[in-house]
Amino acid sequence: MNIISIIRLLWRIIILSRCYGAAAPIAKPNCTTHCGDVAIPFPFGIGPNKDCYLDEWFQIDCRHDNSTTSINYSRHAPFLKSVNLELLSIFPFEDGTQSVQVKNPITFFRCEGKETRQPQNLTGSPFIYSRTHNIFIAVGCKLFAQMSSDHETIAGCGSICHNNTDGDYDNCYEGIGCCQDTLPRNKLTSAFSIEIPSNPMGDCKYAFLVETDWFANNLTNFRDVKDMDSVPVVLDWILNVHDYGERFREKPDLTRNQSTPFCTSNYDFTWYNRTRMICICPPGMEGNPYLLQPCQDIEECKGSNQCGDDVCENVAGGYSCYSNINGRIRICTHFASSLHHNNTNTTCHFIPTRGQASRTIILGLGSGVGLLFLLIGAWWVHKIVKKRKTIARKKMFFKRNGGLLLEQQLLSGEVNLDKIKLFNSKELEKATNNFSIDRILGQGGQGTVYKGMLADGRIVAVKKSKMVDKSKLSKFINEVVILSQINHRNVVQIMGCCLETEVPLLVYEFIPNGTLSEYIQGQIEEFPLTWDMRLQIATEVAGALSYLHGAVSFPIYHRDIKSANILLDEKYRAKIADFGTSRSISIDQTHLTTCVHGTFGYLDPEYFQSSQFTEKSDVYSFGVVLVELLTGQNPISAVTGSQEEEYRSLATYFITSMQEDRLFDLVDARFLEEGSETEIQVVANLARRCLNLNRRNRPTMREVTSELEAVQMSRKPSISAQQNSEGVDFVEDDSVGNWDVESLSEVSASY
Ligand SMILES: *[C@@H]1O[C@H](CO)[C@@H](O)[C@H](O)[C@H]1NC(C)=O
Ligand SMILES: *[C@@H]1O[C@H](CO)[C@@H](O)[C@H](O)[C@H]1NC(C)=O
Ligand SMILES: *[C@@H]1O[C@H](CO)[C@@H](O)[C@H](O)[C@H]1NC(C)=O
Ligand SMILES: *[C@@H]1O[C@H](CO)[C@@H](O)[C@H](O)[C@H]1NC(C)=O
Ligand SMILES: *[C@@H]1O[C@H](CO)[C@@H](O)[C@H](O)[C@H]1NC(C)=O
Ligand SMILES: *[C@@H]1O[C@H](CO)[C@@H](O)[C@H](O)[C@H]1NC(C)=O
Ligand SMILES: *[C@@H]1O[C@H](CO)[C@@H](O)[C@H](O)[C@H]1NC(C)=O
Ligand SMILES: *[C@@H]1O[C@H](CO)[C@@H](O)[C@H](O)[C@H]1NC(C)=O
Ligand SMILES: *[C@@H]1O[C@H](CO)[C@@H](O)[C@H](O)[C@H]1NC(C)=O
Ligand SMILES: *[C@@H]1O[C@H](CO)[C@@H](O)[C@H](O)[C@H]1NC(C)=O
Repeated sequence: MNIISIIRLLWRIIILSRCYGAAAPIAKPNCTTHCGDVAIPFPFGIGPNKDCYLDEWFQIDCRHDNSTTSINYSRHAPFLKSVNLELLSIFPFEDGTQSVQVKNPITFFRCEGKETRQPQNLTGSPFIYSRTHNIFIAVGCKLFAQMSSDHETIAGCGSICHNNTDGDYDNCYEGIGCCQDTLPRNKLTSAFSIEIPSNPMGDCKYAFLVETDWFANNLTNFRDVKDMDSVPVVLDWILNVHDYGERFREKPDLTRNQSTPFCTSNYDFTWYNRTRMICICPPGMEGNPYLLQPCQDIEECKGSNQCGDDVCENVAGGYSCYSNINGRIRICTHFASSLHHNNTNTTCHFIPTRGQASRTIILGLGSGVGLLFLLIGAWWVHKIVKKRKTIARKKMFFKRNGGLLLEQQLLSGEVNLDKIKLFNSKELEKATNNFSIDRILGQGGQGTVYKGMLADGRIVAVKKSKMVDKSKLSKFINEVVILSQINHRNVVQIMGCCLETEVPLLVYEFIPNGTLSEYIQGQIEEFPLTWDMRLQIATEVAGALSYLHGAVSFPIYHRDIKSANILLDEKYRAKIADFGTSRSISIDQTHLTTCVHGTFGYLDPEYFQSSQFTEKSDVYSFGVVLVELLTGQNPISAVTGSQEEEYRSLATYFITSMQEDRLFDLVDARFLEEGSETEIQVVANLARRCLNLNRRNRPTMREVTSELEAVQMSRKPSISAQQNSEGVDFVEDDSVGNWDVESLSEVSASY
């Protein structure tokens, strides 16, 4: 590293650790800035002093909070006096506009102990219901709800009924037990009323306008709203140029180094006869522009480092990054170039490293010992800063990926520590050679799977998941933990995970011989699976499914059984993989209502129609795998000879063939030599029963398993008996039952 750059780095670090000046004022002098925890920036202000707020529309009443939910009676709550709404916060957006978040009443219909309250009429005030930050929501089964204003419907939505839906935001989006609509573009909404016109069921329904972010992120279940009286809603406010233009005169000439705020009516907002004025601090500056006092420079280098690993220095209206490019120091200065503070205009230049500058500094330093000392110090400081940054980043990912939750559960002793290991990211990077392309084993909807070798020589498969939805993380962790409790020799074993990286990584035992589908569909021709092996694989898969359905303290439905999800190990034993869509359910839930998941061709037709997944849906999919094993054909194939694209479902074709007594046309001729006709007939009959269109007539996995075992036993009595005795070994651990299993958990565990 170049001496000059080290000296500069050291110097910058010293500069950076200095304290900066006080924060910009938000209110007029001698005015109260806060009510309770809420900051009140001008033009809003707390009375009685009239100078503290712009005019009576913006007056804030700081009242005692008498609400019964608050234990702390000395708490104060701000109210927008002019419209009598409780204020939650006043916050600026990046474009310089400000919005206020207020409590908006929920409109209940026929709900016990709740009166039907309509939202506040804001007509005539500077406030409107924000179109961009709010959403209209109605909760209830089979309803139609609408928002109307001046006898005109401005928003409305309808929902269908489903008894078992969880209160997920996603369901609300899909109109299941809840529905939503946005406000119209072409209209300012300052007043509206909510109606639910017909309610034949006569049960409790409710609707409300709510802040979209809050509804999507702060609520885990939309039905929680039922116990509230109000929800947050965002109001925009307008300074009409006709009324306020004199006070906030436009100051169009803006130069970068000026810090005076400017006000403009020439902005995006011209609404009817009201032209909105807004005041803004110049780019790169912050403060309350409505005070018409100089704004203050934003200290971009504080907090997260804008320059990545390089040194950041704050300058007026922007920041500079110092980087070392092959021993030369490059300074890039980023000026905020628009009201969006994230847009920057960047100029870069190199500073001379040889010549006058360096000579002066070196001469100035005098002795070589001093220089060496400084050098080591600088290197050390730089190293520490860099390391801290990396650690902070890893910690952030760890937290975001649900690591804290998992750690907590590990500490509470509910998880078998031998089963699940928290790998660190270095370990896995090393194991997979930095996730190199030549280590990729497969790529699927769930993520990419890499082959890796751990330091102790064990071969593993590392799955790099696709980005996990934040809200699903606790469920994700829950599922990883549940999977760690499954210990069945025909289920792929999860070894651990790594949460320090941007996306979670999952580590599995490595299964060397590929997927069953590759063998069935003849991709691996040199090794055809014999009838014995097929029977063995079918029995093993059936046994594992039977175990998942019944043997654990709570049932787990795989939901995506197909030959591509059955892996074969070095002895061609089957291992079920891909629990990506699997769900575990509590015992008192007999079935599961969901969006249709699974693979076409293997899907239970009844599930397709009813969206209800039961253990019999897995049985159907297993039936398709059984037919694949018997016939060696694809579950879906294009019908040859037809003009348009037509597809034939193997399951249907198989059933018709059996009805027409053409079974042996379909079955691979080789098997007739290897196995007896009776055996094949028995397995085919079993497959046919699994594929019964009526779930009730399908056998359970336990029955399927014992029938397959019986066929095997009749072939090789001694060997089969031996294998059965060691077939199932699972951890019988009651703590599994304590998991939050009724929250339908998801995990990406496929490969
Ligand atoms: C603020 O209050 C102090 C003392 O009460 C007074 O001297 C000062 O003039 C006030 N400032 C303004 C701007 O009202
Ligand atoms: C709280 O109670 C006091 C007197 O009991 C009343 O004057 C005040 O208006 C109440 N505040 C609210 C926010 O209801
Ligand atoms: C109640 O609120 C006041 C101010 O809002 C605060 O100073 C006090 O500590 C709070 N008391 C409790 C018990 O939370
Ligand atoms: C929902 O439950 C009600 C009674 O609890 C029942 O009448 C109705 O048929 C159920 N609807 C569905 C779709 O299951
Ligand atoms: C709101 O108030 C205005 C007059 O103040 C009235 O014309 C309008 O109908 C009201 N709107 C609603 C939805 O109540
Ligand atoms: C919503 O959640 C965020 C983040 O947890 C929090 O900062 C915010 O105060 C919450 N909003 C409300 C209205 O509770
Ligand atoms: C603003 O920039 C001009 C020219 O770039 C310079 O002469 C002037 O001193 C600057 N003013 C301030 C306050 O930095
Ligand atoms: C807009 O202003 C013009 C004149 O200033 C007036 O004639 C017109 O009625 C106003 N329109 C509305 C919708 O207020
Ligand atoms: C900058 O901010 C705007 C407004 O929030 C946003 O739409 C845009 O995506 C941001 N751009 C970047 C690069 O973050
Ligand atoms: C960026 O800065 C350069 C030089 O200061 C200027 O010529 C250019 O117009 C600026 N670009 C933008 C988008 O502001």
